[in-house]
Amino acid sequence: MKILHCYPFIFIFIFILPISSASDPFSEALLTLKSELFDPSNVLNSWVIPQDQNPSPKIHACSWTGIKCNQNSTKIIALDLSLKNLSGVLSGNQFNQLVDLIDLNISHNSFSGKLPIGSFNLSSLNSLDISRNNFSGDFPIGISNLGNLMVLDAFSNSFSGSLPPDVCEIASLKVVNFAGSYFSGPIPGAYGSCKNLDFLHLAGNLLSGYLPVQFGQLKTVTHMEIGYNSYQGSIPWQFGNMSELQYLDIAGANLSGSIPTELGKLDKLDTLFLFRNSLSGMIPVELGNISTLSSLDLSDNLLSGPIPDSFSNLKNLKLLSVMYNDMNGSVPEGIAKLPSLESLLIWDNFFGGTLPQELGKHSKLKWVDVSTNDFVGVIPPDICSGGQLSRLMLFSNYFSGGLSSISNCSSLVRIRLEDNLFSGDISLDFKILSDVSYVDLSGNRLTGGIPDDIFHSLNLEHFSVSNNPNLGGILPEKTWSLPVLHNFSASSCNISGNFPEFPFCKSLSFIELSGNHLSGNIPESISLCENLETVNFAENNLSGEIPVKLGSLMKLKFVNLSYNDLSGSIPMGNTFKSMDTSSFLGNPNLCGTPLVRLCHHGNGISEGMELGSRRNHKVAWVLVLCAVVVILSGFLFGIFYYRRRNANRHWKMVSFGGLSELTAADVLKSFNSIDSVETLYSSNSVCKAVLLSGMTIIVRKIEWGTKSSNLLIDFITQIGNLRHKNLIRLLGFCYNKNLGYLLYEYLPNGNLDEKIGIKRDWGSKHRLVINIAKGLCFLHHDCHPAIPHGDLKASNIAFDENMEPCLAEFEFKTISAMETGEYKGLMDHDLKDDIFDFGELVLEILTNGRRKNAGISIHKTPKDVLLKEIYNDNEVSASSSSSLSSKSIQEEIKLVLEVVLRCTTSKQSDRPSMEDVLKILSGLKP
Ligand SMILES: *[C@@H]1O[C@H](CO)[C@@H](O)[C@H](O)[C@H]1NC(C)=O
Ligand SMILES: *[C@@H]1O[C@H](CO)[C@@H](O)[C@H](O)[C@H]1NC(C)=O
Ligand SMILES: *[C@@H]1O[C@H](CO)[C@@H](O)[C@H](O)[C@H]1NC(C)=O
Ligand SMILES: *[C@@H]1O[C@H](CO)[C@@H](O)[C@H](O)[C@H]1NC(C)=O
Ligand SMILES: *[C@@H]1O[C@H](CO)[C@@H](O)[C@H](O)[C@H]1NC(C)=O
Ligand SMILES: *[C@@H]1O[C@H](CO)[C@@H](O)[C@H](O)[C@H]1NC(C)=O
Ligand SMILES: *[C@@H]1O[C@H](CO)[C@@H](O)[C@H](O)[C@H]1NC(C)=O
Repeated sequence: MKILHCYPFIFIFIFILPISSASDPFSEALLTLKSELFDPSNVLNSWVIPQDQNPSPKIHACSWTGIKCNQNSTKIIALDLSLKNLSGVLSGNQFNQLVDLIDLNISHNSFSGKLPIGSFNLSSLNSLDISRNNFSGDFPIGISNLGNLMVLDAFSNSFSGSLPPDVCEIASLKVVNFAGSYFSGPIPGAYGSCKNLDFLHLAGNLLSGYLPVQFGQLKTVTHMEIGYNSYQGSIPWQFGNMSELQYLDIAGANLSGSIPTELGKLDKLDTLFLFRNSLSGMIPVELGNISTLSSLDLSDNLLSGPIPDSFSNLKNLKLLSVMYNDMNGSVPEGIAKLPSLESLLIWDNFFGGTLPQELGKHSKLKWVDVSTNDFVGVIPPDICSGGQLSRLMLFSNYFSGGLSSISNCSSLVRIRLEDNLFSGDISLDFKILSDVSYVDLSGNRLTGGIPDDIFHSLNLEHFSVSNNPNLGGILPEKTWSLPVLHNFSASSCNISGNFPEFPFCKSLSFIELSGNHLSGNIPESISLCENLETVNFAENNLSGEIPVKLGSLMKLKFVNLSYNDLSGSIPMGNTFKSMDTSSFLGNPNLCGTPLVRLCHHGNGISEGMELGSRRNHKVAWVLVLCAVVVILSGFLFGIFYYRRRNANRHWKMVSFGGLSELTAADVLKSFNSIDSVETLYSSNSVCKAVLLSGMTIIVRKIEWGTKSSNLLIDFITQIGNLRHKNLIRLLGFCYNKNLGYLLYEYLPNGNLDEKIGIKRDWGSKHRLVINIAKGLCFLHHDCHPAIPHGDLKASNIAFDENMEPCLAEFEFKTISAMETGEYKGLMDHDLKDDIFDFGELVLEILTNGRRKNAGISIHKTPKDVLLKEIYNDNEVSASSSSSLSSKSIQEEIKLVLEVVLRCTTSKQSDRPSMEDVLKILSGLKP
């Protein structure tokens, strides 16, 4: 109805108003302006000229929305159309009538097209605010006509081209804001000549080039934001001459070089943000002279060395962030004495020693993040005494001792202590920690069980204590009644006893309790947890049947119930059907899909895998196929004969799709026509064979004891079901009680080790690295449980017919461990070892094989030396005059080297995950 209501208005405005001509030229001009606007909210409905007007010197428009006139209404001095949902392209033709305007504000609308050059005829303007629109194209030349302008705000538009060079010809100008457009090219040096400038904001454009040294002459600027552009070179030391500066932000601006010591002269500075650049060298001691400094963020650079002792003078410092650099040393005691300090963010560096023991005693700390460093010692006893500490991040260090200093810290919201050496009881008083929402204590040496009073944590969303091998105890009775609990993990904690009921668990989505000694049934009530996505109860002593309704929880994506003592049939629910077999392995009394063990009509288990007589005919062919493969692999000939006579009936064949198209005839013919058998790799249990069908395959023999065979068969089945273009495919598998033959696809183009010295252009090298990463990432992140490669090296990278790299032998480490009975389940460090190997391999590729198996020793070579070497290896010149393409190659090489260095750090927990590696390689920050 509203819409219908609007039509008469539009009709009047467009067709009637222009006819009533006997009005003043100012109002006429505004009506013309209005006719150019699209006004969907009809906010300009007051812009009409009454029909029965008397001639008057006064301007009609003075009573209109957004118009301000002088006292006797003879001049329009301000036009404020801000925040009015207006859009359209302005011609600017009317502005010649509005030359008395002092303030023009059309901000917060959706105007588009070019900024009308007519606006530069409004020579009385003090302020021009066109911010938050969508003006585009070049910013027109001529702004300097506005000789009285003080405020020029063009924030957040779509301007492109270079910044207008003439703004500083306006001596009165105080505020310049060109941030948030697509301006490109360098900042004009002339911007250094703004005489009275107070505020300069150019951030978030596409500006490039060197920062102008002329900024040193800006003696009146108090606030300057020029970050989120991509400049070249370093911060000019002349910036230290901008003596009135209070706020300086050049974050995310590709700056390199060191931080000029001259910045220490900026003795009015309150905020200094230089994060996300490539600044290197040490933090200048002189910054400690800026006693006014309240926020200092130098994070995400390449800074080295310690936090200067002089920072103890920064009595106003609230925020100190140097996270994600290469800094080392210990945190100066003086930092703990800073009376204003609220946030200490120094994670991901190489800091060591103990934290200052007085930390928290002298200021009201809110946020402490010192994670991923090499700190030792205990949590400072007063860390919480300011009563405001809400986030405490200490993870991935070597902290030890107990948790008593934070037991009663009621302000805490996030506690992350994982991956340290904390010991003793989990002495967190959950009655007092009522705001806490995230607690991670995993990977420590805590004991004494999960506290009974955890049910008091009404805001707890995430709780993890996994991998505290001596934690012990039972699952507290009311654990599952926590109202917002989302994630609960306590794997490998030596927890025993039964599951508590799940009376109320609507928010629960992730439960991980693998590798404990839980016994009894899985309560039926688990199916009330309708938001469950991940359930991992593997490797416990759970018995009884799987609750039927668990199988039909809609959101369930991942279940692992393997290696328990569950029995009966796997519920038929849709959710379980799509699960991998590995979810149910190791429960000898469990049957049904997706296990190969079929259920009888009762819940008994049939010998589904055994060869029933009615299938004997078909099976015979399968056996022949197995036999063929065995024969093909020449050296096994004798064994085959022996087996065929004696154990033939017990051979089984599993095809994973790749061999299913072979007909019996093919198989028979191939039987007689082996022309090439050749030993591959160093291992003599692997050989290549050519079938008559034209198909070449690789055959690998494995042997096992009866004990490990189920484990192995299950694992091999998992492998056979993997599909990824950067993994060699397992086509089939035939086996009997004692041994089996794995049948792989054969890749014709050799391996990376043979080809490492071949000259590749950078593009194909980069692709090679990324594709290897993709294969490994798949094993680590898309397989459940993850599959560690275990032996990643150049000779295990084969090339397919398109010269795409494929990982080979990726299952063999696990299989060998299973063969010898040493398999202990997936270990996190296996994955981290892979990542180390990946780092080494990538370096080998980068250096055409020159640096092979470099190990952690590469960290002894300075990065720039390494980089220079690698530029040479790849024939990109490191000189500054090199071409654009070789510059972008250099950037990519830098990135890849960064990956190498991070993957090969000696501390496992510092190595990135393969997912992160892929992200970095694709140019994204993880
Ligand atoms: C309006 O006021 C200004 C001074 O404020 C004066 O100069 C001008 O003559 C006045 N005009 C009329 C029409 O009253
Ligand atoms: C602009 O439009 C939005 C939604 O269309 C509306 O909520 C808002 O009130 C409008 N603003 C004005 C000033 O009319
Ligand atoms: C323009 O209008 C907006 C919104 O009303 C306001 O926030 C802004 O300060 C105005 N600009 C100037 C320069 O006064
Ligand atoms: C601006 O003013 C000048 C001189 O008064 C005039 O020649 C020009 O046409 C005006 N520009 C616009 C776009 O109105
Ligand atoms: C802004 O203008 C540009 C160029 O005219 C256009 O491509 C873009 O879609 C516009 N954006 C919005 C949000 O209207
Ligand atoms: C980043 O800075 C470096 C070093 O000054 C320079 O070589 C490179 O061209 C810059 N990158 C971009 C995208 O401007
Ligand atoms: C910087 O300021 C000092 C004094 O404050 C002056 O001597 C020097 O010439 C200035 N340098 C530049 C480049 O402006």
